[in-house]
Amino acid sequence: MAVVVTNANAPAFEAKMTVYVFICVMIAAVGGLIFGYDIGISGGVTAMDDFLKEFFPAVWERKRHVHENNYCKYDNQFLQLFTSSLYLAALVASFVASAICSKLGRKPTMQFASIFFLIGVGLTAGAVNLVMLIIGRLFLGFGVGFGNQAVPLFLSEIAPAQLRGGLNIVFQLMVTIGILIANIVNYFTATVHPHGWRIALGGAGIPAVILLFGSLLIIETPTSLIERNKNEEGKEALRKIRGVDDINDEYESIVHACDIARQVKDPYRKLLKPASRPPLVIGMLLQFFQQFTGINAIMFYAPVLFQTVGFGSNAALLSAVVTGSINVLSTFVGIYLVDRTGRRFLLLQSSVHMLICHLIIGSILAKDLGVTGTLGKAQALVVVIFVCVYVMGFAWSWGPLGWLIPSETFPLETRSAGFAVAVSCNMFFTFLIAQAFLSMLCGMRYGIFFFFAGWIIVMGLFALFFIPETKGIAIDDMRESVWKPHWFWKRYMLAEDDHPDVEKRSA
Ligand code: BGC
Repeated sequence: MAVVVTNANAPAFEAKMTVYVFICVMIAAVGGLIFGYDIGISGGVTAMDDFLKEFFPAVWERKRHVHENNYCKYDNQFLQLFTSSLYLAALVASFVASAICSKLGRKPTMQFASIFFLIGVGLTAGAVNLVMLIIGRLFLGFGVGFGNQAVPLFLSEIAPAQLRGGLNIVFQLMVTIGILIANIVNYFTATVHPHGWRIALGGAGIPAVILLFGSLLIIETPTSLIERNKNEEGKEALRKIRGVDDINDEYESIVHACDIARQVKDPYRKLLKPASRPPLVIGMLLQFFQQFTGINAIMFYAPVLFQTVGFGSNAALLSAVVTGSINVLSTFVGIYLVDRTGRRFLLLQSSVHMLICHLIIGSILAKDLGVTGTLGKAQALVVVIFVCVYVMGFAWSWGPLGWLIPSETFPLETRSAGFAVAVSCNMFFTFLIAQAFLSMLCGMRYGIFFFFAGWIIVMGLFALFFIPETKGIAIDDMRESVWKPHWFWKRYMLAEDDHPDVEKRSA
């Protein structure tokens, strides 16, 4: 299938969707699978009695007293630290990963990620005390930091512009598949005593091995090769992935972007310049907003949440499997629509959609769930249904677009650094939610859903006014086609001279 960039301002590069690109996409996206697995597994493991007994005996004691306050039975800073330590490590790691990504390439960064993952899996699955468990989580976090830095960039760079959105969302698709697999594994290992949790945590080893060997097979991106002066190899790589003979125009445009990039000695300083403001501000806020949709309150703690509203332990895990499946299926909708309706439509539609769900869930809990006791069957079912509808909306919008937009809107010279800032913001806000959610649930009770609803209004308005459409625009043409014409962001562009991307190197 030949595709040509259609945007009037963007250069038209011919490209086919080749089998080779497809294979590279699938292998790289395994990085997303591990990330998703780690997200999904913690909620289930922290709901397992064997695990709590071994590492968090106080929480286990409290949990046994079922008549205690519904909203607070899991509130424990150490338990939350188990979940959230991973994100803290990933936050720091993404900056190191960004330097490695630029200096050594996207491919070795993924290989480092898989090694960190393997060490982390060994330590967590074999943990004999809390320290070992937390150190294991930190290693998994380094893996996430490296993987989440390299994979989305890799995907955006090897994809033909016209298909970039859809191919990039394969990352998010794998994240959702990882979460689902984790939910299923949780469901079955919960009944394996006393070491089911070890199997659950050890499961991440399988995709880590796939990533390690798979990443030996994939190609380095042409951009990364040319950026490191390997022009001939870069040209060859481009020919291989595009599947057409005439790649000269695209090659020249990458060389041009690399020439500009090379003149920027310090990408982080460049990020502070006005011209970097639009992608930087949007990239950072997208992460804040993505996490303040409340998605991870659901994802990490779905089993805990469902138990809180009165499902038994196994029923709770099963409901998490249902939400996980919906998450995967709805991501396909995102893949299909993102290069058709564009990014803005998805962001706006889902804001309204998620807002309604939060309001309904919050109202039911407010009305029917007391501090003790359980929800009636009918109400609990309605809660699960609206959790599912909510997950749907997230899965085709703020979930994938939180990764896609920052990977495609920075110019090459700040792409890796800018994306690292976005990844680390994502990790920071994920950490914040992971660390705070159980306490927030305890303190705010049903109010937590209204809290997230409030943020969804803010993000919907932000998307409406400040997030421009990037569908179909060549990755190195954002400035001309997107920022310069934008009603608000153009002010940061006008301040620059004719060669705005080149830092003036005054003597
Ligand atoms: C987010 C994760 C979230 C997942 C849910 C990702 O895009 O970054 O924090 O758990 O989507 O599918």
